[in-house]
Amino acid sequence: MPSPPREEIRALLLENIHPSSHDSFRGDGIVVETVSSALKEDELIARLPGVQLLGIRSKTKVTQKVLENAPDLMGIGAFCIGTNQVALAHAARCGVPVFNAPFSNTRSVAELVISEVIALARQLFDRSREVHEGKWRKVATSCYEVRGKTLGIVGYGHIGSQVGVLAEALGMRVITFDIRATLPIGNTKATETLSNLLRSSDFVTLHVPETPQTKNLIGESELAIMRKGTYLLNLSRGTVVDIPALASAIRSGHLAGASVDVYPEEPESNVDDFQSELRGLPNVILTPHVGGSTEEAQEAIGREVGVALAKFARTGTTAGAVNFPQVEVAPLREGQRLLNVHRNVPGVLRDINKIVSDRDANIRAQILSTDTDVGYLVMDLDDKVAHDLRRDIAQLSTSIKTRILT
Ligand code: NAI
Repeated sequence: MPSPPREEIRALLLENIHPSSHDSFRGDGIVVETVSSALKEDELIARLPGVQLLGIRSKTKVTQKVLENAPDLMGIGAFCIGTNQVALAHAARCGVPVFNAPFSNTRSVAELVISEVIALARQLFDRSREVHEGKWRKVATSCYEVRGKTLGIVGYGHIGSQVGVLAEALGMRVITFDIRATLPIGNTKATETLSNLLRSSDFVTLHVPETPQTKNLIGESELAIMRKGTYLLNLSRGTVVDIPALASAIRSGHLAGASVDVYPEEPESNVDDFQSELRGLPNVILTPHVGGSTEEAQEAIGREVGVALAKFARTGTTAGAVNFPQVEVAPLREGQRLLNVHRNVPGVLRDINKIVSDRDANIRAQILSTDTDVGYLVMDLDDKVAHDLRRDIAQLSTSIKTRILT
């Protein structure tokens, strides 16, 4: 099937994605349908026929089964930072690039972390709750300034480094631990091991991705290394902290407080109940995964991912995709553009070029980019032959997805 004419491309946007994304789609004549909630696997499969672009946030799981039942799907936009809700490698093998917004909500998370460092040090949420309940408990015991205290940042990437800048502005000493070498900003000092950081910090804040290595990165033994009376913040991913171990460290008084925004199991929607051992514990701030949830961030994410998806639909550009060979191509001015995703095995280009030369096709430009599993070929062609070529190339056993832009 040739790629549908531009006005027939349909985008399905779930989970209340910011309307700023619509501008990019509508500007390109892409039809937008919205659904305010996440969809479960079967509901999603039922909605995907005829949908070329899918927009999700963190709640919708795009599983292998979803991908195998979505023959029309061309691209996915994850309107958030994390992309672990998508079966990424399988999406690539199905010829579907996945785009995200790596920096749009960085500052929102960093600001919340700083506010919670102060709130924990002052037991602010407990005092506020007491006053709401009509209790007047004016206390200074175990309440502190953050100036001069040590903030340990685990994962010194986009968010971690912003947190460090803001913390130093408050007069905090900042130390970091990261598995890769990073450039320290300001007076920040890197520690060689996680244990060193845990041992030396008054506050530990986690900003690592969800990976097999970060699962339960902070468990019973790591909490035991932290000094008595210190605080833990996790606004990264729920799997990074062993929740029963954290609850026990709070109950025993070993930790003086914690702030948690992300959980191993999170409710699918705002009407579902939330269960956690952390509920009701003293000086524990619990928020519903709102670290990056600000108007500014949502608008920026909507724009950034919307532009990437629309550009992919319009030109075939995959720059910025998290799971796919990267190609940046200018809009097509004349002729036709053939886009071919194929299994990255020897001989593919030879087979494709043979088909092209057998048809005396006039190639205006050709770009190939590959990664371990898939190759992505962009060919600008004389418009008289592109549809025939598409059919022949699509029939190659190595071809995964082949479409034409006009
Ligand atoms: P990033 O990729 O810029 O930084 C992550 C850093 O962690 C990298 O420097 C990486 O080398 C480091 N790292 C990876 N594995 C590590 C390990 N085992 N030990 C120490 N360091 C390790 O990511 P970014 O943008 O700073 O995001 C960080 C986390 O925040 C992600 O998990 C993301 O999903 C989460 N996040 C949460 C939000 C919320 O609403 N609560 C909003 C936005 C992001």
